[in-house]
This record gives sequence, structure tokens and C-alpha cells, in this order.
Amino acid sequence: MFTISNETPEDHCAIDSLLDAGFGAERNALTVYRLRLAPPRPDLGFVIRDENRLVASLRFWPVLVGPSMPALLLGPLVVAPDRQGAGLGKRLVRHALDQVSRDGWRLCLVVGGPNYYAPFGFEPAAPWGFALPGPVALERFQVRALGETTLTDLLPSGGSMVHPWRSVRGGGLIDHRGRWWHETASLAA
Ligand SMILES: CC(C)(COP(=O)(O)OP(=O)(O)OC[C@H]1O[C@@H](n2cnc3c(N)ncnc32)[C@H](O)[C@@H]1OP(=O)(O)O)[C@@H](O)C(=O)NCCC(=O)NCCS
Repeated sequence: MFTISNETPEDHCAIDSLLDAGFGAERNALTVYRLRLAPPRPDLGFVIRDENRLVASLRFWPVLVGPSMPALLLGPLVVAPDRQGAGLGKRLVRHALDQVSRDGWRLCLVVGGPNYYAPFGFEPAAPWGFALPGPVALERFQVRALGETTLTDLLPSGGSMVHPWRSVRGGGLIDHRGRWWHETASLAA
């Protein structure tokens, strides 16, 4: 039986194995990893288990658009090779987008296949003025508003470059509700 839940620290090894299988060990060189500097957050990590086996993972990283607009970067999304094509990815994306919307997030960006993400409401991000801090195939860079918000409501006013979440003194991160979040990675990297 499949169950969806938030990931826990005990899931990290199983998630890394899925990511190695889905994307290869070189994945950290991708532009999106410049925005994934902080450790994964359990409230932004979702997994599907089949009994005790972890078969799918979806994580978000908080980012800032321009100087101050909070947003989520969706991904990586991965499904175990022997479970692909059975609807698990779709189920996990829908569940996770619902959850982060309920949690108050209003903007979500992704770099991924446009054919895969369009059915979830994503559309090209570059025409709206969003930009990433590195090379990316523009048609893969997509955006959608969450909850009742529209992209028109959210259009960046002070610049549209996507940054890692801002660091604060003492080496931490502040989330979209002003909560402090401990980090171990260096934002200066
Ligand atoms: C991409 C991936 C997450 C899809 O998960 P999945 O569980 O196999 O996908 P689903 O069964 O939920 O498919 C949902 C829909 O997307 C389609 N789809 C599946 N993989 C697709 C892909 N790579 N590109 C475009 N569409 C795809 C399916 O045909 C299905 O369409 P339908 O709803 O009309 O039937 C999974 O194949 C995977 O882990 N791949 C390796 C890692 C990867 O490439 N991740 C990329 C995320 S951008």
C-alpha cells in the first residue's frame, strides 16, 4: 500500500540512492543546485512509501526572487525506476503542491520537462521576467502561483533573479514566515 508523508532524516540515504538512479552522481553541477545550499527541510520534503520501501521523493528548496519575494524551487522529483509510469510522480507533485499552498507559500518555480509540469499549472518563467543564476534551457524553467494568488499579483518589483534563501547572522536561514532555520552549508559557496 502506498503512503505519502514528509521525509525524515532517516530517509536521506534512501533518497540519495533514488537520486543517483534518476539523475546520476553529477547532478550537483546543475544550475538548480546553486539554489539548494541549505540542508533539506522535512516540511518541504515528501516521500511515497510502498510498505517500508521508499519509492518516490520530492523536495522543495526555499528561494528568494529579487531582494525579498519568497518562493519555492520544486525538485528534485524522482520515482524508483521500477515504479515509474504508474502515476506516483503525479500523485506526489499534487499532494506536495497542495501542502505547501496550505502552508502559505505563494510562488513555485521548477526546472524540468515542460510536458511533465504543464498539467500541474506551470508555465514558462522567463517571459514573466524570472531568471536563474546560471545556464538553463529556458523552456525547462517554469513557474506557477500557489493558492488563490495569480502570477500577475506576484510579479517581481525589485528584480527577478532567483537567489538562495537569505542567510542571517550566526549562519542560519529565515523562512517565509520569518522563522529561523538552521543551516550547515555555506551560502557563500
Ligand atoms: C519523471 C518522473 C518523476 C515521472 O514520475 P512517474 O511516476 O514515472 O510519472 P507519472 O506516472 O506520474 O506520470 C504522470 C504523467 O506524466 C507523463 N510522464 C511521465 N514521465 C514523463 C517525462 N519524463 N516527461 C514528460 N511526461 C512524462 C506520464 O505519461 C503521465 O501522463 P498522463 O497523466 O497523461 O498519463 C520519473 O519518471 C523519474 O523519476 N524519472 C527520472 C528522474 C527525472 O527525470 N526527474 C525529472 C523531474 S523534472
